[in-house]
Amino acid sequence: DWIMRDHIEEAVQKIREQVGDEEVILGLSGGVDSSVAAALIHRAIGDQLTCVFVDHGLLRLNEGDMVMDMFAGKLHAKVVRVDASDLFLGELAGVSEPEQKRKIIGRLFVDVFKAEAEKLKASGQGHKGATFLAQGTIYPDVIESGGAKSKKAVTIKSHHNVGGLPEQLGLKLLEPLRDLFKDEVRELGVALGLPREMVYRHPFPGPGLGVRILGEVKKEYADLLRRADAIFIEELRKFTDEATGKTWYDLTSQAFTVFLPVKSVGVMGDGRTYDYVVALRAVQTSDFMTADWAELPYALLKKVSSRIINEVRGINRVTYDVSSKPPATIEWE
Ligand code: XMP
Repeated sequence: DWIMRDHIEEAVQKIREQVGDEEVILGLSGGVDSSVAAALIHRAIGDQLTCVFVDHGLLRLNEGDMVMDMFAGKLHAKVVRVDASDLFLGELAGVSEPEQKRKIIGRLFVDVFKAEAEKLKASGQGHKGATFLAQGTIYPDVIESGGAKSKKAVTIKSHHNVGGLPEQLGLKLLEPLRDLFKDEVRELGVALGLPREMVYRHPFPGPGLGVRILGEVKKEYADLLRRADAIFIEELRKFTDEATGKTWYDLTSQAFTVFLPVKSVGVMGDGRTYDYVVALRAVQTSDFMTADWAELPYALLKKVSSRIINEVRGINRVTYDVSSKPPATIEWE
């Protein structure tokens, strides 16, 4: 529509004025905000933008390839994919305490990103390398970091973010989504040609599957979890609610699978199995501060459970999490 087209044109002009002939780097995560920021900045300055996509090995099934297909493939943006999964999994080995895991992932992310930024500088793409760091900060993030969050007396979970990165890197900040609410960011994303599926995706935490594998993170667990979770999400997208005509993916605010590193006994054919358990989590919420567990149809739960147990060898039991927030949190760690 016209309003959106004007808005894009205005935003593009503003970015061009701010950046001039300098270069920009942006940490692409595959999430909505960084994706929309990348698409908008790319529209404005093309190859003056380099996206850095850090794969920490804790992404969902095929997520890395999908991000590359979209940004490098379809949009023809410059994207550097850094496969840091060995580094992350190595440092996480033997660590099971949730806060410690979060801190390790956050620190490594900053380290890897910084190293990549230095590398780009040294390789002399452009004359002096990037002078801007772009971030997909949106209006609610701006309010949150100034207000409510800092008043909180206890840290329930230390959030993975890249605060402090621009100073450490000596870069200027470029935040073209700073004045926008989530809905506006989504509309902008669609107007910029990003697929609806990407723009209306449920939120995914920075530490990724690292906080959805309880206790110690192992590659074996991550691989099982990725496959189980892909089945859950696929079925949520397939099942439609008759009353509203919406899919259960759209009717839930966030839905995912959690890996429990405990084994239980089962029976498969003539044999005994002794395998891992997963929990399905689906919530409805308007602000993620409180949340209700979603009353998913039994037919959907039944389909997901039987598919996971039959298709993912190594998992023989599926449970559904019926805890609200509070007192439970949405993520298990
Ligand atoms: P909890 O588990 O605290 O989660 O009820 C509330 C929302 O925040 C997301 N979440 C994170 N997002 N980095 C993020 O970017 C993080 O470290 C992180 N931890 C939790 C969670 O997925 C939910 O949407």
